Amino acid sequence: KFVARPIIIDTDAGVDDALALILALRSPEVSVEAITTVAGNVEVDKCTRNVAYVLDLLRPDSRPMLAEGSRRPLKKKLITAPEVHGRDGLGNIGLRRPRKLRVRRDAVDVILESCRQFGKRLTIVALGPLTNLAKAAQKNIRTLKMAGRIVSMGGALRVPGNTGPVSEFNYFVDPEAAQLVLNAGLKVTVVPLDLTQQVVVMRREIEYRAKRRASKLGNFILRSTRHYMRYHMAAEGFDGGYLHDPIAVACVIQPSLIRTTRNRIDVETKGDLTRGMTVAARPPAVWRAIQRPGAAVDVATSLDREGFLKLFHERLWQ
Ligand code: RIB
Ligand code: CA
Repeated sequence: KFVARPIIIDTDAGVDDALALILALRSPEVSVEAITTVAGNVEVDKCTRNVAYVLDLLRPDSRPMLAEGSRRPLKKKLITAPEVHGRDGLGNIGLRRPRKLRVRRDAVDVILESCRQFGKRLTIVALGPLTNLAKAAQKNIRTLKMAGRIVSMGGALRVPGNTGPVSEFNYFVDPEAAQLVLNAGLKVTVVPLDLTQQVVVMRREIEYRAKRRASKLGNFILRSTRHYMRYHMAAEGFDGGYLHDPIAVACVIQPSLIRTTRNRIDVETKGDLTRGMTVAARPPAVWRAIQRPGAAVDVATSLDREGFLKLFHERLWQ
């Protein structure tokens, strides 16, 4: 009997984060031990409420611990994305004020506690800006290094940005945190836009599957993705949405879905035009020439798209 791998999910629970949470909570290969929130798509208190709402909807047998984290980036002013995720972070579906939430307020300590408790078996899946992880590294890098792997959805290497002209949102919001985490000698896998923009889910497919699988969860997925898809229609010209965060989670559930290469990534922290830009040394010869010890990360460079979509829809509509 295989043993589920312990994971913690750090999220700026927006719409695609919520789909990633559902995927993780519905996959027996992983055991979500804790969920920590970080300001990004929306303010952190809304992220926490959104995660609580998804947990109430799914009622997982073992309810993960929920801990609220950073209200703002390490240095920059918080920039949110209500135009993409709605003011509430879940497509303006009108969530009721949450009943009293059992929430810890110390996400950084929860992350470090999980590293101590699960050690090499632990995978930390970061779906938002890396502020909480950067603070954990600043507080106790030795403990953070006990974790087996950090998977971070972020960056844009050979494709334009989705926030700045050359910057992906998560690393645009907190470039100092991204630079710190990607260059601290941690075992990091970066899942960049280059990969996550290779997959889209069309609105009509979500509508078809939600109607066929009429359930509270199906209804939530339909309602919460409507605003997100309208944004993509306006900004990207297709009637659907990207699945950035579900792809990052799927890589942990089924590692064979991606291929990775080692590379060194620096994150620009200066300037409005280029802040959050991920600069990867290539070709490898150049990288070897400028390689610093401990500055290498694994970058996901190819994705089994059909395999991902099969896993995603199989688990989402159970
Ligand atoms: O750039 C896409 C990423 O930024 C996703 O994680 C999305 O949820 C936002 O956090
Ligand atoms: Ca996210």
